[in-house]
Amino acid sequence: MSIVENAKAAAQGAAQTVMKKAIELAPDSWLPGGKPDPLIRNKHGLIGAPISRIDGPLKVQGKAKFAAEFPLQGMVYAAVAFSTMPKGRIAALDTGAAEAAPGVVLVMTYRNAPRMQPMPLFLTSEKAAGGDNLPIMQDDRIHWNGQPIAVVLAASQEQADHAKSLIRATYEVEPAITAFAEAKAQGTEPGMFMGQPLKAEIGDAEAALAASPVSIDAEYTTPRHSHNAIEPHAATLAWNGDELIVHDATQAVVHTAWSLANVFGLDEKQVRVTSPYVGGGFGSKTLWQHQVLGAAAAKLAGRPVRIALSREGVYRMVGGRTVTEQRVAIGAEVDGRFTAIIHTGTVAMTRHNAMPEPFILPTRGAYAADSFKLDVEVAYMDMLANTFMRAPGESVGTFGLECAVDELAAKLGMDPIELRIGNEPEKDPTEGTPFSSRHIVEAWRAGAERFGWSQRNPSPGAVRKGEWLIGMGCATATYPYYRMPGGAARITLTKDGHARVEVAAHEMGMGTATAQTQVAAERLGLELDQVSFGYGDSIMPGAVLAGGSQQTASIGAAVIAAHHALVAELLKLAGNNSPLAGLNADEVGGLDGGLAKLDEPERHESYASILARAQRDEVVVEAAAPPPMETQHWSMHSYGGMFCEARVNAVTGETRISRFLGSFDCGRILNAKTAASQFRGGIIMGLGMALMEETQFDERRGRVMNPSLAEYHVPVHLDVPEIDVVWTDIPDPHTPMGAHGIGEIGITGTGAAVANAVFNATGKRIRDLPLTLDKLM
Ligand code: MOS
Repeated sequence: MSIVENAKAAAQGAAQTVMKKAIELAPDSWLPGGKPDPLIRNKHGLIGAPISRIDGPLKVQGKAKFAAEFPLQGMVYAAVAFSTMPKGRIAALDTGAAEAAPGVVLVMTYRNAPRMQPMPLFLTSEKAAGGDNLPIMQDDRIHWNGQPIAVVLAASQEQADHAKSLIRATYEVEPAITAFAEAKAQGTEPGMFMGQPLKAEIGDAEAALAASPVSIDAEYTTPRHSHNAIEPHAATLAWNGDELIVHDATQAVVHTAWSLANVFGLDEKQVRVTSPYVGGGFGSKTLWQHQVLGAAAAKLAGRPVRIALSREGVYRMVGGRTVTEQRVAIGAEVDGRFTAIIHTGTVAMTRHNAMPEPFILPTRGAYAADSFKLDVEVAYMDMLANTFMRAPGESVGTFGLECAVDELAAKLGMDPIELRIGNEPEKDPTEGTPFSSRHIVEAWRAGAERFGWSQRNPSPGAVRKGEWLIGMGCATATYPYYRMPGGAARITLTKDGHARVEVAAHEMGMGTATAQTQVAAERLGLELDQVSFGYGDSIMPGAVLAGGSQQTASIGAAVIAAHHALVAELLKLAGNNSPLAGLNADEVGGLDGGLAKLDEPERHESYASILARAQRDEVVVEAAAPPPMETQHWSMHSYGGMFCEARVNAVTGETRISRFLGSFDCGRILNAKTAASQFRGGIIMGLGMALMEETQFDERRGRVMNPSLAEYHVPVHLDVPEIDVVWTDIPDPHTPMGAHGIGEIGITGTGAAVANAVFNATGKRIRDLPLTLDKLM
């Protein structure tokens, strides 16, 4: 950083500190969520109902069109060739045979690619979506093993794939840092996450740890993980003059449009990104080089392009979760009260991305303690950029933290649930802010009862049936409540009493379209079939990211704002001859196909009647959500207690999960069916992390060696037991609909619950994921 940049950062930091204090001290009523969303009181029936996905029939009939299913006139197919070394330059690149192959339209390399700017890095500014900020095919430099070196366009996918196989490259190889130990030996730097340092110190935690009568101090490690959404990344792109249309598989339509506009020097209005259906994102479906390469090749060829990455392509081009080494130390009094919590360690990252795995995040708010020391250090490597993956930070961070709590409970001779409950904080332990809604103790008690926790034998290795050692373990699940800035919504109400709600948001399979239709219908006082929810198109209002488990809240806050504007407009139109005359928008809500006074529902007029009298066919309103200041005023999180029963074969060392229960406290649940599916999906991903997922990374050449689902194992049906999920359903008075995010919490705590169950079964404490049988033999 230059002196000027340092001064700017310091000034910004000071301004942020003042702002943060002001928001903390502001009266509740000044903040978004200061007054409870009226829907929290509304028991009309749609909120929470287990409504089946409205897009389900389209999907099972094959009528839902995904990014690689848009047929465009004159379209050609792309295949990507990848570098096979980590750093240096391309010495020779022979594309002659590929160019001469049947069906080939174009071979694009650094020699003929158009001039482009690097992608703006995801979350470094409001609409930035790029996974790395490297030059894309602008020169002969190689930055990672797997970097695209050529794109072939051909008349069919098979022809493109074949021609790509004919490309020959040789390299001038330069020394690269591809081993984690070597990277650490070069020195580390403090990690930054979304502009904030991943550091916190309260009191002298090392001294408190040393002075504590009981303590645990251990090292936990987690491997690299690669993204494996069921739909590999894909985009269909076409230029119309200087305008670019992209049918993408993305969790950020507006961010992708804005970022692509930056890359090609266009106005953001010149790029339109649609994404009506996405086959899973998990943090990976942002902007990576393939969309840029597809757009560049389409420009050169003058033809629309479909670029659908192979499964290997996703492993080579799309980042995953990075490796972590975590020290967790907890000091306690003999009664179990925590005196010190230390959670520090190192992750690997590249110089061309900004995503250190923030594993200390769960530790900031989980337990009360007299002192804290939290720190994530970054070691730089020459490799594929790493990125967000479901509960980045919390998923692997809770593995370290929650295994350590279990180890401490064993040392203290205490029940691990009672140890956790005994250290419940009254307010946020590191921020000092009050909790908006925290009912984790209820979740623990309900879960323990339902799982039969009292049947657990606390002595490790004591329960055996034949060859199988059986154990039970538990862990806390936790994930923050976020709401990102930029939400906006449009509501179009027509005289037939139909409403269309539009937000540039996303349906990646989690049920957003369904849950938001329910919420909108409830808010407007309409039936489900009178409401349609539009999303997945960058020309719609707002810039809402499907990430950070915050999309539901972001849409909710935007729709509340638009609804308020709609009510105000309708009251104006209703005039003095309405039962609603003289009321203001705060006093009125949607009911039975019209508006009614909230506390006097007989003062009601239907939408049809208001519009007819005003001689209007429709009313259209658009409004933006307020900035998300509530997240600095309250400590806001989702919580859960996770319970696992594991069976470990004493002969072969194989682990089978026989039962799993997640007991959640995530505010009000909006759709019992899609929510249960989100919880279970997260837990299944957590079981993969616990037992099998591991990217095999060749530390000599920085290459991913298992880029396929044959060699990178994820849980299949036989690996997954019936997963029970329950929830408190207690609304948070300070969030839209009283809801919290539920997309990521299921993966948190799961790894530790499994490891703790395996310890209870076998007496073996494995601190290194995944828990493969070699570690248990
Ligand atoms: Mo998620 S990792 O915020 O898509």
